[in-house]
Amino acid sequence: MRVDVLTLFPAMFSGPLQESILKRAQQRGLLTIVLHQIRDYAFDRHQLTDDTPYGGGVGMVMKPEPVFRAVESLALPEGTPIILMTPQGRRFTHEVAQELARHERLCLICGHYEGFDERIREHLATDELSIGDYVLTGGELAAMVVIDAVARWVPGVLGDAASAPSDSFAEGLLEGPQYTRPLSFRGWEVPEVLRSGHHAAIAAWRRREALRRTALRRPDLLQRLDLSPEEAAFVREVAASQGEPDPPVQGSSE
Ligand code: 6GU
Repeated sequence: MRVDVLTLFPAMFSGPLQESILKRAQQRGLLTIVLHQIRDYAFDRHQLTDDTPYGGGVGMVMKPEPVFRAVESLALPEGTPIILMTPQGRRFTHEVAQELARHERLCLICGHYEGFDERIREHLATDELSIGDYVLTGGELAAMVVIDAVARWVPGVLGDAASAPSDSFAEGLLEGPQYTRPLSFRGWEVPEVLRSGHHAAIAAWRRREALRRTALRRPDLLQRLDLSPEEAAFVREVAASQGEPDPPVQGSSE
């Protein structure tokens, strides 16, 4: 996968993308990240990339010409998502990450100031993404979040092919508790079942604990799941033990 990033602050990307799994993915040729300085595509003498808003008001607006020129210089293959990073975008989720990972190329545009000239939205971008309901000073950190979450779904990026599918959200559940050595730490013991070597019992325990954790922390995730009647009863029990209302589980209302 190749990701082209348009930004006024390319230096922001140097740390996060050059460590750990993303570093290894790039060294192995599985992921290429190309940073483009939007200012290099400004054509006036002062290399202006922003200007005051028509109609008045505070703040500055990203000018269309440099952004259009930068994207057009890439000669992107037909169908490449051209994504504006903005708090007004659709919410970036696990599903969106998987969907984007199916593309061979992506183009992310990071904005600053009060926003983009509307013509960038209407006539250049094919999508707009937000990483959550809060406002960042620019799209760069959000773009790094997107790159990281998408890269995990590019085949080969996670050394262990089994890691991605079993993670939180892959099955729509939060992951349950995990333990490693030592067996006893300050008197706190690892649950017996995990040491039993009984694979079916371990899988059943993990499923139950994942359901419990999801019911307690993110009951909103439960409604998208296909739970067995026993599992639905279990999550209702967990919610009730906390004095919570019945979680919205499919088939849970008699
Ligand atoms: Cl993509 N950009 C900015 N500036 N703020 C955000 C965001 C993006 N997503 C959430 N907040």
